[in-house]
Amino acid sequence: MARTRSLRDALLVLVGALCMHLATSFFGTFQPELFSGDIIVNTQVNHHEAARDQIPMQDPHIEIASSAKTVDTPAVDVASDFPETTIEAHAPGWTVFKNLYMANGTLFIVTPHPSSEFPDIKFITSTGLPAENTPENIAARMPTAKDIDFLTPAQARQRWGSSLDSATQRNRVYPIEGNTFLFNDPQQFLDHYYHFCAELLVGAWAMWQGVHHAKVDPAHADITTAPPVTRAIFAHADATGWRDRPGFNAYFLRAAFPSLTVEVQADWQDRIAASAAGGGDGAHARVWRLDTVLLADRSAAFRGVVCGTQVHRTAGEAFHHMRNLGQLARWWWEPVRRAVLRFADVGEGALEIGVRMAAQAERGAPVPGPDEPVVVTYVNRQGVRRHLVDEDHERLVLELRRLCGARGWEFVDAKAELMTKEEQLALVSRTTVLLGVHGNGLTHLIMMSPTPVSTVIELFFPGGFAHDYEWTARALGHKHFAVWNDTYHTYPNLPWVDYPEGFQGTRIPVHAPTVAQIVEDRIAGRLP
Ligand SMILES: *[C@@H]1O[C@H](CO)[C@@H](O)[C@H](O)[C@H]1NC(C)=O
Ligand SMILES: *[C@@H]1O[C@H](CO)[C@@H](O)[C@H](O)[C@H]1NC(C)=O
Repeated sequence: MARTRSLRDALLVLVGALCMHLATSFFGTFQPELFSGDIIVNTQVNHHEAARDQIPMQDPHIEIASSAKTVDTPAVDVASDFPETTIEAHAPGWTVFKNLYMANGTLFIVTPHPSSEFPDIKFITSTGLPAENTPENIAARMPTAKDIDFLTPAQARQRWGSSLDSATQRNRVYPIEGNTFLFNDPQQFLDHYYHFCAELLVGAWAMWQGVHHAKVDPAHADITTAPPVTRAIFAHADATGWRDRPGFNAYFLRAAFPSLTVEVQADWQDRIAASAAGGGDGAHARVWRLDTVLLADRSAAFRGVVCGTQVHRTAGEAFHHMRNLGQLARWWWEPVRRAVLRFADVGEGALEIGVRMAAQAERGAPVPGPDEPVVVTYVNRQGVRRHLVDEDHERLVLELRRLCGARGWEFVDAKAELMTKEEQLALVSRTTVLLGVHGNGLTHLIMMSPTPVSTVIELFFPGGFAHDYEWTARALGHKHFAVWNDTYHTYPNLPWVDYPEGFQGTRIPVHAPTVAQIVEDRIAGRLP
């Protein structure tokens, strides 16, 4: 394998070990009662997988506020008091707060503790501007006290407390009850199926399940013990800003979270304006108190080690943080996957593939069993921009048809642009091997059943590589192969990220027998 990452990996493993140590010593005192019983079921999986990944959970400089250690805040009279802000969980770009305040566009942490006890705000948020890779833009995305500020309860009372001469007046604090996902990202990375569903929602779900130590019982894997999410706020995107052209983002969000209310930038601006009303003297200033909120920020995630230097996926920060803590249940993604597939009217049999095969594997029975259908789905991109050399595409289809015919497997040459959403989801839900050129069509892997043989094969222009589908496949329990014509790479021997000339082109070569061999070996269990 060309250019392995041994030295950098060795360093990162050291950093990771240190982080794990810090995390364990801190979280050892965090919600200890919830660790008993809940986690034992998954301990083996988590230890095994954490060791396999060896990815550090977070920047070693980050410390979590000591106030986060108290889970049950004592009862406060919210009409006259200012419940303290606490951080329930944090990874770069992903922070779960209780009692976070917002006035005039600034998020306020109300705490008697010094701000040094909290994570650096650059790991929590950004100014929400679109990202470009220039020094000016990087500086312009750095958050300031206008984005997140700290107040003592006395200072909060001074700004928004009742006036002293009126014993009956209440604080000017208005609660936003329930559970909020506050997305601080601009439209740039929201109006895209991969970035919205496979990155933002995967990350948010990992964080939300993890912070609640959610359990998912494989026999009822559509149910999670984590509480429901009340609303999503897109603070920097308008109503079209979070919708992708094919319409999967809205479909997915409504299917997975039917009761969720969406607020967009204009709604957030209403709240900003309402809180600043009253003029410069601040006489009638108000503040919003978000009861429980997961704040997600892409730029902040990229300042973390996992996202910034390793997997380049914002969801990586949330996922590895929670998995390294042992707080991510084995079937953590299943409730979302099943909700979306049910919405698409996919048959129950397809929903159960993963759980059924896992049970077979545990019994020591062969997987896939002789009666288990094997479905090889080729995402055909010849009709859209980035694609294979035409002759290579034709040979690939012939070769895969031949292989599947000989083995009694099903082969599907799928042109997503000619299929309805329901047809696409039904197909991918029963797909064993999903393959295609690097591109958004592979995002459907988030709807595949994770099984001991589930596989994603991504065809790159030789020399090219990106982590989008590689990391996501791995996080959701599928083996991934990055094919360069007649050779391939798979975790942990991955090439460096690179976009050589030809990466985006229409002359991507692929040696069909190499791909067919991967499929054959993988189903036969020779590529575990
Ligand atoms: C609200 O924020 C704006 C812009 O950041 C600022 O110009 C204005 O003075 C603020 N208003 C109040 C009442 O704090
Ligand atoms: C792809 O691999 C085949 C088989 O090794 C080889 O004959 C062909 O030249 C390769 N194509 C490219 C563009 O490297």
